[in-house]
Amino acid sequence: MRWMRAAGRALLVVTVVLAGYTGLGVRADAGARDGARGPVTLATAGDLTHYLAPLLDDWNRGHPAERATLVELPDSADETRAQMISELRSGGRRFDVLNIDVAWTSEFAAAGWISPLERRRFPLDAFLRPVVDTATFDGRLYAVPYVTNAGLLYYRKDVLEREGERPPRTWAELARLARTVAPRYGLGGYAGQFLPYEGLTVNVTEAVHSAGGAVLRDDGARVAVDSAAARTGLRFLADGVREGWIPREALAYKEEESRRAFQDGRLLFLRNWPYVYADASGAGSGVAGRFGVVPLPGPDGPGTAVLGGSNLAVSSGARHPASAADLISFLTSERVQRRILTEGSLPPVRAALYEDPELVRAYPYLPTLRQSLLSAVPRPKSPRYDQVSLAVQAVAQDALALRQTPEQAVARLARELEALSRKG
Ligand code: GLC
Repeated sequence: MRWMRAAGRALLVVTVVLAGYTGLGVRADAGARDGARGPVTLATAGDLTHYLAPLLDDWNRGHPAERATLVELPDSADETRAQMISELRSGGRRFDVLNIDVAWTSEFAAAGWISPLERRRFPLDAFLRPVVDTATFDGRLYAVPYVTNAGLLYYRKDVLEREGERPPRTWAELARLARTVAPRYGLGGYAGQFLPYEGLTVNVTEAVHSAGGAVLRDDGARVAVDSAAARTGLRFLADGVREGWIPREALAYKEEESRRAFQDGRLLFLRNWPYVYADASGAGSGVAGRFGVVPLPGPDGPGTAVLGGSNLAVSSGARHPASAADLISFLTSERVQRRILTEGSLPPVRAALYEDPELVRAYPYLPTLRQSLLSAVPRPKSPRYDQVSLAVQAVAQDALALRQTPEQAVARLARELEALSRKG
């Protein structure tokens, strides 16, 4: 583990000037305005939404004058963000409630695209604590946690059992098994989400945490790069590609492509979100009953996942903000949160559900997930997070495609973040 400990040593701090905090403190809280009731839309990424229509039907039955309509945007996080922003920038009023990735709260709040919410309207104490923090910016609540997420390691239980091996707890063990065991079964060793988009930033961040550091450190005022750990984490992934235990195809994977590869029986190990558990256990899966789930590996034991998920916010241009805020209360209520797990296969934000014996029986991964969620790292709370993430993606793409060494890639990341900070 020496190489991993060494990773913590050199810390290159790159300051990103966080400018652009405009439009704060002048808007009324969403829902506080008069005449704020009427029909609303809920804009969300178009994947994993099959469970939502019946939920909105229930709301609509009880609120005929405040009907909620679903607006489905593209599947990937980045494309959804782009579409939401183009609507919000142009002053469009198509969206009332926005289902935003936890990574976007600061950017949307700082730009004035979402309205602050009254804390006392929502039972924040009942939510998992780290999740609530993703919904705040500059000390105010700008959204309400809706779905949470933490990466898990899926593994082929049948294969490891036959080999007398246990699921890996460290990246070194994972690499050994991916290198030696997978080829004997005609399997790819390991995949995550390595296409350049937000998913790649998440995967790289987790690999770097497993090297004992952080790609990005966020002390509230600046985002920093831990160069030694970043080099080690990137080298781990690039070695996987070079040595062939990360299949080349994985460089084009988002969540769904990587899920299919595992589910079709093509991979020994997969890093993915909890929603995969239900699909991989289902009738159409080639690995039903033959896989297991453990926390992501770490340097010396279970590792650190990136905190994912999404929050519900009221758009500043909402036509009916009071109804929008009420719809958010409904969707984050304990009853609906339970259905988000049972009907949507998505991780709820209400803490009590993770300790509900009936749910734990039906969803045996809940305790593992809870443990991963409570130790997960949030993404930096920067209004410029999108640009920081783009820089990480660009250099990681080149390192994984073996076009640049991890050393060159990290040096370039430092330069790109410096350039970003100079833009102000
Ligand atoms: C999942 C996570 C989200 C993350 C995205 C990356 O949707 O919930 O937080 O940004 O994946 O692809």
